[in-house]
Amino acid sequence: MNRSRDNSNERSPLLNTNGHHEDDERTRGALSTRDPKSRIVVWSVLTLVFIAALVVLVGFEDKLGDSVKGWLGILPKNPTKAAIMILDKAPVIDGHIDLPALVRYKYANNVSAIDLNRKMPGHVDIPRLKKGKVGGFFWSTYVSCPKPDIAGKNFLGASWKVRDTLEQIDVSKLLIEKYPETFSLALNSGDVKNAISGGKIASLLGVEGGHQLGNSIAVLRQYHALGVRYLTLTHTCHNAFADSCGLLPGIIPLHYGLSPLGRSLIGEMNRLGVLVDLSHTSDDTARQALNHSKAPVIWSHSSARAVHEVPRNVPDDILKLIGRGANKTDAVVMVNFAPFFIAYPGEADLYAVADHVDHIARIAGKEHVGLGSDFDGIGEVPEGLEDVSKYPALIAELYRRGWNKYELAGLTGGNLLRVMEGAEEVAKELQTANTRPVFDIYSKRKDLPPRASEEDL
Ligand SMILES: *[C@@H]1O[C@H](CO)[C@@H](O)[C@H](O)[C@H]1NC(C)=O
Ligand SMILES: *[C@@H]1O[C@H](CO)[C@@H](O)[C@H](O)[C@H]1NC(C)=O
Ligand SMILES: *[C@@H]1O[C@H](CO)[C@@H](O)[C@H](O)[C@H]1NC(C)=O
Ligand SMILES: [Zn+2]
Repeated sequence: MNRSRDNSNERSPLLNTNGHHEDDERTRGALSTRDPKSRIVVWSVLTLVFIAALVVLVGFEDKLGDSVKGWLGILPKNPTKAAIMILDKAPVIDGHIDLPALVRYKYANNVSAIDLNRKMPGHVDIPRLKKGKVGGFFWSTYVSCPKPDIAGKNFLGASWKVRDTLEQIDVSKLLIEKYPETFSLALNSGDVKNAISGGKIASLLGVEGGHQLGNSIAVLRQYHALGVRYLTLTHTCHNAFADSCGLLPGIIPLHYGLSPLGRSLIGEMNRLGVLVDLSHTSDDTARQALNHSKAPVIWSHSSARAVHEVPRNVPDDILKLIGRGANKTDAVVMVNFAPFFIAYPGEADLYAVADHVDHIARIAGKEHVGLGSDFDGIGEVPEGLEDVSKYPALIAELYRRGWNKYELAGLTGGNLLRVMEGAEEVAKELQTANTRPVFDIYSKRKDLPPRASEEDL
């Protein structure tokens, strides 16, 4: 997408720059002179000016106005101003936004009834996305887990969840297309960068649960063909591929992690370039998936269990498996803002969310943390982070806590982009090596191969 223009990428240090400026050539031309004497004069003057500037900068940095500092590339002391400057260059790429679910529940997916330029119910609309300096997000094409008695013991009873997922992919794409001046569908990390440097909001698609596959790896391939770039292995229910952590403690494991079909699924995700998302999974599923995946993985919307003890948060022993050393897997844990996951009732605020970010950074490293708010998917919100317009307040708080601009640019989106690039690289390698598509059939299915006697021929 949008590959035609060579954007200068001025807006973001996250994005590659080609480092060539025509203006440099012209400036040099104007200064050059053939007379060696005047050349010496020019260089002496320039050197003096340079030294004087250095003295001013070193000695009086504190006294320079914030606007002058901004012009010089120095961040102001004022955290709010610094946050805005960082976000102007490195906008937020949120791992999990539930706008499509809100549109399903409140509007029966009637895109004509939606005006994202006005204030929407919930936490997301275009004015607030712009105010919050959002440069991209994963649109979650979520549909709920089927009731256990309808799914049945072997999960064979709810394949209409595939239809419902297609409806959510459809409504996401129609909303993205409805605002072409704002949103741009993104299918890879290059699309995300191009959207951002073109001033648009990169729009990625994610499917939130293996139960949405109808037990079929072929369905994953078709979701990928439609633009889906992550699959959360489970939602709050176990499925044919993997165990969930549920919502409250005490869920009884089924596979004790991944099923054999779940391992095959991850292999196919690696081959296609669909990110493995470990939010909602059990700890065993997460550990085994980290070990099994050839590609970097994500937690699209999960916080830290050591800060607040709920099953949906990631424990330290798993955070320690993240990284780029031996026996580690590259990953980004994108912090969820849901008050229930963040703190005890009444204590969830911006500072508590910052504590989760800080903790994950301390255990896994600052290059392994991101933002996955879950906006529009959460009923309650933390004080100070009420909607997508409030990200700058969180960035300001972390700046206050000592995060520098490069670390913050990683948090807001750079870390996710690195993981996406890693997964794209693995997919390319596997495809170049002619890795076959996975044709495994779920063992509990009895409809394949079809028997002629059971078909209306
Ligand atoms: C969808 O919304 C539009 C605009 O509000 C309305 O005119 C139309 O009747 C709705 N369609 C359905 C099927 O509800
Ligand atoms: C997976 O586990 C095996 C055996 O415990 C280990 O040798 C291997 O290094 C692990 N791989 C990853 C990617 O963690
Ligand atoms: C990685 O795992 C292997 C096999 O389990 C082990 O022998 C090795 O010591 C581990 N390396 C590190 C750096 O932990
Ligand atoms: Zn979720």
